[in-house]
Amino acid sequence: MTDAIRLVLAPMAGYTDGPFRRICAENGCRETVSEMISAAALHYRDKKTASLARILEGEGPVTFQIFGHDPVMMAEGAEILLTGGYEGCRYAAEPAGIDINMGCPVRKITSNGDGSGLMKTPELAAKIVEAVVPVCRKYGKPLSVKIRAGWDADSINAPEMAVMLAEAGADRVSLHCRTKEEGYTPGIRLEVLADMIAALRKTKPACEIVGNGDIASAEDAMTMLQMGCDGVMIGRGALGNPWIFRQILEAAAGKEPFVPTEADRRSMAARLAREVVAEKGEHVGIRESRGRAAYFLQGMRGSARMRDRLNHAETLTEFLSILEIEE
Ligand SMILES: Cc1cc2nc3c(=O)[nH]c(=O)nc-3n(C[C@H](O)[C@H](O)[C@H](O)COP(=O)(O)O)c2cc1C
Repeated sequence: MTDAIRLVLAPMAGYTDGPFRRICAENGCRETVSEMISAAALHYRDKKTASLARILEGEGPVTFQIFGHDPVMMAEGAEILLTGGYEGCRYAAEPAGIDINMGCPVRKITSNGDGSGLMKTPELAAKIVEAVVPVCRKYGKPLSVKIRAGWDADSINAPEMAVMLAEAGADRVSLHCRTKEEGYTPGIRLEVLADMIAALRKTKPACEIVGNGDIASAEDAMTMLQMGCDGVMIGRGALGNPWIFRQILEAAAGKEPFVPTEADRRSMAARLAREVVAEKGEHVGIRESRGRAAYFLQGMRGSARMRDRLNHAETLTEFLSILEIEE
């Protein structure tokens, strides 16, 4: 039973790059999703964007997430990603599939009608799916969409929208059980997930359903699975705790879940920093690693001072010595 639990790492811009995804995969995560990638940037063969289109040695199945609002450009973006990309993209393995972002609440994104802006234009969202499906079919890869409960409390439309998108050809719908207006505030709308499951099971039973939002324990994951989800997606719960996947699998199997020691946490923060630096160079790698390490240090004695010192570190050597890890 527990091997059948489909645990997915949620896409998180600035966090779910190759090094982090690889660590999650090693710890029981069945599938990871990349940071969101702009379809327009792929169209222009943007150099910086190429670094998002990478799959490293040792990663598990990686789904690439794209965002945009133009069906033709979205189809082109999927085609580029599924055929090895362009200069600067690098794949140690084939991508597992394509995911479309219909949930990002950031104004810069929604003001173009991208991300959760698409929750307001379900017909356009369906057209995008219709355009991307043939590309995914051509390469034998699934297409998933990631939606929110709705734009705001007065326009909850995830159940109807999920049916439209499945009818347009989406193989999977992942629901972040909050509206765009709710952002990331605590509390999720499980009743919307229940309605979406009922609507999809009635009309499109083959469409996979993944629940997302505030999963921090095996209990949270089991709640969504028992409601009828095929899998669950974990985001912030994995930042600083990539062991969450194995902890959920162990708890679900009736075993005592693994509890990392402080040394394990410092050592994982150091490994992540090392691998991010190897991928992106020391300047960018150290800057990106500061915030990530802070998640690993949460709740430790002396963590405030350590965080402060990490924020001033410029080299990997300094970074590791603050974490008290030998190079
Ligand atoms: C820092 C951060 C970056 C995110 N970036 C993306 C993204 O690129 N694409 C996306 O669909 N969702 C993104 N999300 C939303 C997450 O995928 C997820 O839906 C949300 O955090 C709720 O799940 P959680 O409660 O397990 O964190 C992001 C969330 C966070 C906190």
